[in-house]
Amino acid sequence: MKIEADVARIERDLMALGKIGETADGGVTRRSFTETDRKGRDFIVDLMKDAGLDIWVDIGGNIHGVRKGTKPELPPVVTGSHSDSVENGGRFDGAAGVIAAIEAIRALNDAGIETEHPLEAVSFFAEEPSHFNTTCLGSRIVAGGFTDTSLLERTDSQGRTLQQAFDEMEIDTGKFHIPARDPQKIKALIELHVEQGSVLYEKEIPIGIITDIVAATRYRVTFLGQADHAGATPMKGRRDALTAASEAILAVERIANEYSDRDVVATVGIIECHPGMVNAIPGNVRILVEVRGRAHFSKEIPAAEIVEAIRTISRNRSVDVDIETIAQDTSREVSPEIIDILRQCAEDRGYPYLVMPSRAGHDALHIQNIAPAGMIFLPSKDGIGHDPREWTDMEDIRKGVNVLAEAMVRLANQ
Ligand code: GLV
Ligand code: MN
Ligand code: MN
Repeated sequence: MKIEADVARIERDLMALGKIGETADGGVTRRSFTETDRKGRDFIVDLMKDAGLDIWVDIGGNIHGVRKGTKPELPPVVTGSHSDSVENGGRFDGAAGVIAAIEAIRALNDAGIETEHPLEAVSFFAEEPSHFNTTCLGSRIVAGGFTDTSLLERTDSQGRTLQQAFDEMEIDTGKFHIPARDPQKIKALIELHVEQGSVLYEKEIPIGIITDIVAATRYRVTFLGQADHAGATPMKGRRDALTAASEAILAVERIANEYSDRDVVATVGIIECHPGMVNAIPGNVRILVEVRGRAHFSKEIPAAEIVEAIRTISRNRSVDVDIETIAQDTSREVSPEIIDILRQCAEDRGYPYLVMPSRAGHDALHIQNIAPAGMIFLPSKDGIGHDPREWTDMEDIRKGVNVLAEAMVRLANQ
């Protein structure tokens, strides 16, 4: 029997998951380490159980649902994404890939298709920036990439440490040093995700097949000037931390523009200003800077220029600056073998596809360090991501799940 994903089931589950943490404007806030995220995780466990999957949770808090293979001792073919979200994000980012993973297995169940290797649906833990400014925690941990235990001392705005947050989740951080999930234990991973950019939508192509995934370098930059009375302090001689930060933000944009032909982007997405009074000169300002680049060009070159520019600006304004590197991931190409299989599956179905890079970060980037990984992208309406307006047509998700399920069968019978 032919594999056919069920559009009604996909829509039902995706919209139900979107109700967990739903915001006033139809978006979703399901930040990791929160009660809402826990409810999302429980919902996914229930869906996996309904699909007849055996549940287990790995050392990184990632939830797995296993469908036995005819040779159960073989390593599984894994598919999935994440169930947490950004603040007031969309209903599709991550969630589409988790629901697609479960639907792919349900479609195989419906078609009565067995595989030699087991299949696994996975929901990765804490992919989005957490309140501790970490990303992709679950996939990073299983891939042996959580090596800096000082991260556990990072605090959120309430003073809670990352260690405490893990304790509350009953995730044992003492096991994080255990190297990667044994590479022998994953045959391959395919992550389906919405593009969150405009390439597929504008070209009206339903399937993207990913060649490489960008990674970010991130800095926490603290400018220390001198707070003072905004009326009584003359302009001359001020040490205004916010004007220094402002100039730095413009330098970030300028340098990223200079490298834009090499696919470099850079953004300042967070700014904290103290004391934060209309009548006080800002004395302490913190910004978070990120620089992203593809595998073909080292983003560390513009990143170093940005750091240098920030230091120069601070010196010229007599403001002290502290620059802390809080993330430095390496952009990677994904498995050529999986790219080939995905192309064949899309062609066999007669679906138009585009081979393209991922300009967003994904769990597959980290899993690619320990096992062959690949990604399927789906069009995002108007190219929007990380916003309540995120939308992908159910029909496109159906096509993506069909390609995903076919590819998994091929990998699982090799
Ligand atoms: C993932 O959401 C990213 O920030 O790229
Ligand atoms: Mn995201
Ligand atoms: Mn995502």
